[in-house]
Amino acid sequence: MTMQTENAKPMLGNEKAEPTNIVIFGATGDLTKRKLLPALIRMLDCGMVHKDSRILGVVNNRTREVWLQLLFDALKAFSHEITLDMDRWNALCEKLIMVPGDLADDETYVRLAESLQVLGGKKNAMFYCAIPPQWYSKVAAGLGKANLVSEDEGYRRIVIEKPFGMNLETSRKLNNALQTEFHENQIYRIDHYLGKESVQNLLVYRFANGVMEPLWNRNYIDHVQIIVSETLGIEYRAKYYEKAGALRDMIQSHIMQVMTLVAMEPPVEFTADAVRDEKMKVLRAVRPFKPEDIDKLTVAAQYAKGTIDGEECPSYVAEEGVSPDSVTETFAAVRFQIDNWRWQGVPFILCSGKRLPKRVSEVMIRFRKPPFNLFNKHTSIPKANALVFRLQPDGGIVLRINAKKTGPTTDSEVMVMRAPYANNNEVANAYEVLMHDVLLGDGTLFSRSDEVNESWAIIEPILKAWSERVSIERYRAGTWDIAAMERLTQGCVHGWHTPT
Ligand SMILES: NC(=O)c1ccc[n+]([C@@H]2O[C@H](COP(=O)([O-])OP(=O)(O)OC[C@H]3O[C@@H](n4cnc5c(N)ncnc54)[C@H](OP(=O)(O)O)[C@@H]3O)[C@@H](O)[C@H]2O)c1
Repeated sequence: MTMQTENAKPMLGNEKAEPTNIVIFGATGDLTKRKLLPALIRMLDCGMVHKDSRILGVVNNRTREVWLQLLFDALKAFSHEITLDMDRWNALCEKLIMVPGDLADDETYVRLAESLQVLGGKKNAMFYCAIPPQWYSKVAAGLGKANLVSEDEGYRRIVIEKPFGMNLETSRKLNNALQTEFHENQIYRIDHYLGKESVQNLLVYRFANGVMEPLWNRNYIDHVQIIVSETLGIEYRAKYYEKAGALRDMIQSHIMQVMTLVAMEPPVEFTADAVRDEKMKVLRAVRPFKPEDIDKLTVAAQYAKGTIDGEECPSYVAEEGVSPDSVTETFAAVRFQIDNWRWQGVPFILCSGKRLPKRVSEVMIRFRKPPFNLFNKHTSIPKANALVFRLQPDGGIVLRINAKKTGPTTDSEVMVMRAPYANNNEVANAYEVLMHDVLLGDGTLFSRSDEVNESWAIIEPILKAWSERVSIERYRAGTWDIAAMERLTQGCVHGWHTPT
């Protein structure tokens, strides 16, 4: 994992990746066009991808000319920061190799093996599954059959995108299918959230500073809130979202991962397994949800029509592809308890929603209140301090601390100390960071199979209870008006913290 230093500069990758054949399954899809190809171009530019690497695209029913044109048009449309003159494009095309074929056809993998065979140099390969998740097991099996998994001639690593299953059973099935062909250390389950500089920086703030860690426990912290709020609706993803909902889409994956980083013990060393062992211990300490507590400890809601930034937004049920009587949640919140020495009695409130007033991701650590107001016994106790890690859009850290009001008074007011972290334009984006880690064989920022299964096991009782739901609370798009959040944050100092 590469960290940004004091003077943010484009990351140059001080650890060098070996030449690698980067195979993309789904080389005509949205993820490839918007994220992977632009990231690979930038990585080639700054040396994060070795110049002798090749990009092999598995493409169905298209000629090479059509495929290249499709990529060219996408780069023009989505990646304005990449200047694409013809010299540069032609140089890139020399690195792009098309392997035609359908994922369902075993011959496709044989053709891929032949393509890799004719390429000179070491046979390192990264297989990136930018395809619908139902194909992951088939691709793993196809690669196994074509003898593309063994690492005799170079490393072989497979990358898959979430969702890693839709519940515990499907997650286990997927893990079993992948592990039938690959060793766990060859499997990279990508969560682009963990590739964000500001998320990785959580660990550095915690473990590279002497001032934080002594306070980081139940003696000083009242509760923790982690929120990912979006202004967007479901865009074109109705088919997936109707089955997934906010709990699966955001909480089970990204936000529980962030929770483990906030709550974990210092690892014995900064290596993939040491870090993931500590994250796993947090998940194992999460108090299981009893069916009778689910109403008390969770909130599900769905957006009704409203206005965001002056624009009218339709209700969720009026979105294209959504059933008019859908009760899928577009907002989910869960109150977790971590039953261990450090966190006993400290609620972790995780929430995420669409069509909220702001696009923000934050971790807020709310400290306990001062015991009484020393300065003026007749007024209320000053506000409890909060340490806020802003993960996006603008990474940084904010400390809300009480200071004396100016003038002839000892009354206090909240002073906000801000430490912006890095200009997002100057740091590598999440896909660059994570693909670079795959090339280096560093799995620290990727989920291990036991973590994925455990997080599904934790939320399984909630999924079950919610699957029986026949109605759902509604909130007006563009507002924080979710009444049930008051109940969920009961007993938490200052209640629900909505980002400003
Ligand atoms: N898009 C994003 O920003 C994003 C973000 C996070 C995660 N993801 C995940 O990334 C994965 C891909 O998403 P996407 O949005 O890129 O999907 P997409 O636009 O639907 O692309 C799917 C790709 O898979 C190919 N494909 C499907 N069936 C195939 C078959 N039988 N044989 C050969 N190729 C086949 C498609 O080829 P055709 O063009 O020939 O149909 C296309 O290239 C999904 O798991 C998604 O959850 C995507």
